[in-house]
Amino acid sequence: MRYANITGWGKAMPPAILTNDDLATFLDTDDQWITSRTGMKERRISHVQVSELARVACERALAAAGKTALDVELIVFGSTTFDELCPNTASNVQRMIGATNAACMDVNTACTSGMYSLTVATSMIRSGVISSALIIGAEVISVLQDWSNRDVAVLFGDGAAALYLEAEDKESGVIAESLGCYGESREILSIDGYGVKYLDPKRSLCDVSWNFLGQEIFKKAVAGMGHACEKTMEKSGKTADDISWVIPHQANLRIINTLVKRMHVDSEKVYINIHRYGNMSAATALVALIEAVEEDLVKPGQLILMPAFGGGLTWSAHMIRWGERTKVINESDAELPSCDKTALEMVQDLIKRKAEI
Ligand code: UT7
Repeated sequence: MRYANITGWGKAMPPAILTNDDLATFLDTDDQWITSRTGMKERRISHVQVSELARVACERALAAAGKTALDVELIVFGSTTFDELCPNTASNVQRMIGATNAACMDVNTACTSGMYSLTVATSMIRSGVISSALIIGAEVISVLQDWSNRDVAVLFGDGAAALYLEAEDKESGVIAESLGCYGESREILSIDGYGVKYLDPKRSLCDVSWNFLGQEIFKKAVAGMGHACEKTMEKSGKTADDISWVIPHQANLRIINTLVKRMHVDSEKVYINIHRYGNMSAATALVALIEAVEEDLVKPGQLILMPAFGGGLTWSAHMIRWGERTKVINESDAELPSCDKTALEMVQDLIKRKAEI
């Protein structure tokens, strides 16, 4: 059997932090509401484009795997907030890191994009089309955010993660997954004004508004991820007792707690970092996986279940067998450029830009 082992991992977190108190300076909200309803305390605001975040995450992932950019045969860029749609953003990452042997594609399934990208690359490695890949989950949602709408503005943040995958004979990487979509409910999470159908000479691409029915999304998130987890456990022949870690998409701590209760998983097996970053959409689950590894929680050979949910409404769950190595081979010297503004100043600039439209 051929598998796609995860042998490299890297994240790129924008340095500027937007706290709940910062949000309360321009929205009718407060730290107590955001913390108790979502579990979020702060999130990052990016001063660079999403491809630059991805570049740093990819260079760190390659160093971690002890590989060079020339070893990469495929780049899959999972996101909702691509710098540009034609040419695709994966091709920009290819050029930035010098991965001239890599095929390049973008994948957009909203918050599940990083996990769907993992499926695409894993399947291509397992079927023998390629032997190595970089997958990316990255977002700069701050530029698309409707900063006047407290229902959504408090929930999201920016960030990036990348994994390096390589062909391996021993059971490792994704061993089973389940993917799906509640297309009939797609309007309950949508960004009005973002996409070709909205092109209008009188309207700027920044002029967006979010349709976001929080409670409906909450129910679908629990149902979708619950169903995906059950199917994935069934496919892999594993039970909750076999799983060492549940590392879910982090959209709301209450969604995660409800899911975990439904699955009868011990809450100590659940990795949470939502308080640090909020919901980074495509980057969320992959950053959480990487941090669990960096914190030395994940041990060689352990089973990790990763449920995710996002606009579409897409859902997924991946069962991952971690490989033999939990330490990086090389440290990367890749860094983001320095940032001379606070997160609040950057958000205020975005609010000003929108007011000028
Ligand atoms: O990645 C996938 C996408 N996202 C999700 O999965 C999110 C799913 N949904 C959720 O996480 C939750 O539904 C939210 C966090 C969005 C909202 O939590 P909730 O407990 O469902 O609150 P709610 O919408 O029922 O609102 C309760 C109250 C309302 O006031 P009234 O009508 O009771 O007076 C809202 O207007 O809270 C108010 N509210 C706020 N108050 C302070 C809504 N947003 C805020 C806010 N600050 N930011």
